[in-house]
Amino acid sequence: MNQLLTELKNRLNKESTSERQEEIIVVQSPGRINLIGEHTDYNDGYVLPAAIDKAAYVSVKKRTDSKVHLYSVLFDDSIEIDLEQLLPTTKSWANYILGVIDQLLKKGCFLTGFDLVIDGDIPVGAGLSSSAAVECATVFAMNELFDLKLTRTEMALIAQQAEHTYAGVNCGIMDMYASLFGMKDHVIRLDCRSLETEYYPFEPGNYTLLLMDTQVKHSLASSEYNVRRSQCEEGSTLVKQKHSMVSNLRDVTMQMLDECVDADSIVYQRCRFVIEENIRLLEGCADLKNGNLIAFGKKMFRTHEGLSKEYEVSCKELDFLVSFAAANEPVIGSRMMGGGFGGCTINLIKKEAVSSFIEKASAAYYTEFGKMPLPITVSISDGTKLL
Ligand code: GLA
Repeated sequence: MNQLLTELKNRLNKESTSERQEEIIVVQSPGRINLIGEHTDYNDGYVLPAAIDKAAYVSVKKRTDSKVHLYSVLFDDSIEIDLEQLLPTTKSWANYILGVIDQLLKKGCFLTGFDLVIDGDIPVGAGLSSSAAVECATVFAMNELFDLKLTRTEMALIAQQAEHTYAGVNCGIMDMYASLFGMKDHVIRLDCRSLETEYYPFEPGNYTLLLMDTQVKHSLASSEYNVRRSQCEEGSTLVKQKHSMVSNLRDVTMQMLDECVDADSIVYQRCRFVIEENIRLLEGCADLKNGNLIAFGKKMFRTHEGLSKEYEVSCKELDFLVSFAAANEPVIGSRMMGGGFGGCTINLIKKEAVSSFIEKASAAYYTEFGKMPLPITVSISDGTKLL
């Protein structure tokens, strides 16, 4: 950690085109996993994420002019832009940062120019929310640097808006919340409507979490994601015509859906998944409280089936890894995680079986697809912090 800090600071001084010696701030903001509750956040439902031990790091220092100079260690790329002429660029790594700055300016926050270096160890495109981590690290760093006095909830909302406006993904609040509010060894049950949180100790005993990255980058993710979101809105609008108190899918029961939406339609199929997923999550939390991991794991498999067949956000590689896991007794739960169309599966597996499972699953995956999956072990960690 100390070495990373020194490297980030040195890099920032090297990159800086400003003359003055200013204080350097370094922030760490983690990626996330989600145990259950997928595609529920933008429907005001529940999610069960946790922050992980892989993070985005930004180091920043003020400038005396209005220039913003950004450098990405990962892409070995830089960009300079004036605060007064902020626009999305063709460099997507920079847009996550610029989107946050744009939101802060729109809120009326007073900023000067600054130099920023970004680095991190969250695999990109694996469904671990590396983009939210960058946005949260940026907003947290800006809050410190310019003493903006934002709460963590305000920061999460700003980061979410940045994703909507500069990355073009109309995402929910889960990723940002998990990154900013993570707690070591705890999962967060977040009510995405009230933003109420409950922390559950995650004590899997003889079991552990293992991620298997398909290495398929979710290229359809943003366009199809937005389509799913509007299909859900379409469903709730149909129900609202009869039940005026409905503001979105969170308020819709299966009975209402059956009554108001054609059961053969795609919209029905999508909405049914979300309604059932919310119920599954609440029951899954009870399983965790009762220490019934077997019951929890079964729900993960069911979630995957829904995501694959009803919500249609999986892909053949994810389906393959989940089916392979289902046929392996030491794996008690497995499903695709995150937005979908690639990225990784999350598996609840007996600790002692991890290495043999990785070996067998990788060999089978290679035979099927001619490439290797990437196993990722994670531990549940604290949220965004100053280093
Ligand atoms: C992506 C989005 C989240 C959430 C998940 C699906 O990670 O950023 O807001 O919708 O997909 O659960």
